[in-house]
Amino acid sequence: MNVFVTRKIPDAGLELLKQAGYILTVYTGKVNLSRQELIDTCKTQDALLSAGPNLLDANFFEECNNLKVISLHSAGFDRVDIKAANKFKIPVSNTPDVLSKATSDVAFLLMIAVSRKAFYMYKTILDGKWDFFDPTADLGIEIHNKILGIFGLGKIGFEMAQKCKAAYNMKIIYNNRKPNETAEKELDVQYVSFDELLQQSDVLSVHANLSGQTRGLFNKEAFSRMKPTSIFINTARGGLHNEADLLHALQNKIIWGAGLDVTNPEPMVKDNPLLFMPNVCVLPHIGSATEETRNAMAALAAKNIIAGLRGERLPNIINPEVYQ
Ligand code: DGY
Repeated sequence: MNVFVTRKIPDAGLELLKQAGYILTVYTGKVNLSRQELIDTCKTQDALLSAGPNLLDANFFEECNNLKVISLHSAGFDRVDIKAANKFKIPVSNTPDVLSKATSDVAFLLMIAVSRKAFYMYKTILDGKWDFFDPTADLGIEIHNKILGIFGLGKIGFEMAQKCKAAYNMKIIYNNRKPNETAEKELDVQYVSFDELLQQSDVLSVHANLSGQTRGLFNKEAFSRMKPTSIFINTARGGLHNEADLLHALQNKIIWGAGLDVTNPEPMVKDNPLLFMPNVCVLPHIGSATEETRNAMAALAAKNIIAGLRGERLPNIINPEVYQ
């Protein structure tokens, strides 16, 4: 059986696939595969392990309906047309849960970094501007006992809530497609409407999937309803916020600060004004980038391929409809 892997992933995954006896083709180029290259390669494969921002749209599925399984090396599946996958009965899996701790660490890191203008202050040292001490300059804000609002309370949001409660005794409110009873019981979080989330949060951290319902949700209108002292954090997908509206909100002091691990578009251009604002911290989508997590993601992605090629149900199936 032939398996195409679109990036060199950790050996923890590649070794499992080799041990299973598959013939691996691993793309090792340093630029993203073009749509056509991806399609041309997948036409001769039994399985695709997709790492990186490959677009698996309706056209891809029309052309590559020979695939028996697609395993994503990510939790997010916003670049996959699931309806098209269903049409051709191709099971698709992702790598949820194993990255929740690492990704929520980045949300937590950004929250603190923004509250103390950390990235900007570091740049002042590089720029030779660490000179005169001014007791009133460059002041941050504290987050102890403040209100954390979580948009999308799944596993990553849960981890973020847990850390913020333990470290800063934050009160936690959330908005979700449906109430999360486990989190309500274990963390004493409170479900609120989207509007209440915007109005009440001191820190609003986004952990939802990108979908037709959530795309561009954090726009001018949403930012205008947030507190002028609030911090917006997004470690989910850049498409959830409108970046021009976010910039406008920050420049006009409609909100206080922002921390982004995901941008729109990615990569962010190096002269984006957000990169030069004291109250903004940006990272290049490193949420899951730890040794432990990337090994676990690679192993899980490989296990999903193996199950699929054995004709078994994928452990992390996204579209169980294909089994009906
Ligand atoms: C994920 O797993 O979805 C990460 O954001 C990497 O894309």
